[in-house]
Amino acid sequence: MKIAVVGIGKLGQRHLDKWKEVADVEVVGVVARNKDKIQVVAEKYNVQPFTSLEELLNQVDVDVVDVCTPTVTHGEFVKQAAQAKKHVICEKPLALTSNEATEMIQACEENDVQLLVGHTLRFFPEYANAREQVKNGAIGKPGVVRLTRGVPFPTGREWYADEEQSGGLFLDLGSHEFDWLQWTFGDVTRVMAKHVKRDHQDEQLEYGFVTLRMADGTIAYVELSWAETKFQATYELAGDKGMITYDHNATIPVSLNLRSSDQAVQMPKSLMHKDPYQRQFEHFLDCIAGKAEPIVTATDALKAIEIAEAAVQSSETGQPVTLAEGGR
Ligand SMILES: NC(=O)c1ccc[n+]([C@@H]2O[C@H](COP(=O)([O-])OP(=O)(O)OC[C@H]3O[C@@H](n4cnc5c(N)ncnc54)[C@H](OP(=O)(O)O)[C@@H]3O)[C@@H](O)[C@H]2O)c1
Repeated sequence: MKIAVVGIGKLGQRHLDKWKEVADVEVVGVVARNKDKIQVVAEKYNVQPFTSLEELLNQVDVDVVDVCTPTVTHGEFVKQAAQAKKHVICEKPLALTSNEATEMIQACEENDVQLLVGHTLRFFPEYANAREQVKNGAIGKPGVVRLTRGVPFPTGREWYADEEQSGGLFLDLGSHEFDWLQWTFGDVTRVMAKHVKRDHQDEQLEYGFVTLRMADGTIAYVELSWAETKFQATYELAGDKGMITYDHNATIPVSLNLRSSDQAVQMPKSLMHKDPYQRQFEHFLDCIAGKAEPIVTATDALKAIEIAEAAVQSSETGQPVTLAEGGR
C-alpha cells in the first residue's frame, strides 16, 4: 500500500514513525509548505518531499493520503484526495465544523473512497478494554463517569491557540473523550459546559468542564485542560456493581473494584505497551482492503464534532444544549 503523509509536524512525524512498523506499506511522499523543514524530514525518513498535495498527486502513484495538518486545513486536503480517488486517513478532529465534516463525508462517498479518522483512543488498550468491561456488565448499570485530559498549553504551534484554526479546547482535546463516551455509552442527548480562558502577560491557560447526559441515562463529567505541566489523563467509571479507574501517571494505571469483593483487579502496565497507532493503522489498511469494517466511522467522527459544538454553544450561552437522536 502506497501512503502519502500531508503535514510533518508532531503528528505527521509520529505517523511516519508508525508507518515504518506496518507491513507492506511504502511511504511515497510527504507534504508541507516550509521547504527547509520538509527537506530535513524527507531525508530523515528517506521519502520524496513535496510542497503541495497537488504536486504529489501529479507525480507519484499513491493509494492513501494521510492528513496530519492543522484542523482548519483537513477539509481541503480530504476533499482533494477524495476527488483524486485516493482513500483518506485524517487525524482527529475530522473538521473544524460539523457542516464541513458532512461535506467531507459526502465527497468521499461520491468518489467511492474510504474516510478513516484517527480517533486513536479507540485503539488504546486502557480505553478499549474499559469499554469492553462496561459492555460486558463488569460494573453493572453505569451511573456516573468522570474523565479528564490535560496537557500544557500548546505554545510554539500558534494555530492551536486560534479557535478559527483548531476549534479550541472543546474540539481539539475534548473530541477524544466525546468520541470514546458515545462509543461506550451510546448517543449524547444533553450537554452543559463551562469554559475559562486566561490570556495575559504571556501566560495562556485554558480549562473546560462538560456535563453530558447519555441516551442510556449515564451522566458523564469531562474535564479538559490546557493548563497542565505535563500530560495527564484519567477516568472513573462507576456502576451499581463496581468501578473501573485509570490514571495515566499511576504505577498501576487501571483497576477494577467490584462491590462484591474487597480486591481490586489490576491491569499490568505491560498491557499498555502495544502501540495504539500501529494497531490503528493496521486496522485502517484492513478496512481499505475490505477485510474489516471501521471501528470508528466518519459519522462517529462527525458526532464528536457535534458534541464539541454543543459544548461551545453551552459555554457561550450558559444554557444546556439538547441533541436529538444520533447527536444531531
Ligand atoms: N490523535 C491525537 O492524539 C492527536 C494529538 C495531537 C494532534 N492531533 C491532530 O493532528 C493534527 C496535526 O497536529 P500537529 O500537532 O501535528 O500540528 P503541527 O505540529 O503544527 O504540524 C502541522 C504540519 O502541517 C503542515 N501544514 C500546515 N498547513 C499546511 C498546508 N496548508 N499545506 C501543507 N502542509 C501544511 C505544517 O508544515 P508547514 O507549516 O511547513 O506547511 C506542519 O508540518 C491536528 O488536526 C491535531 O488536532 C491529534
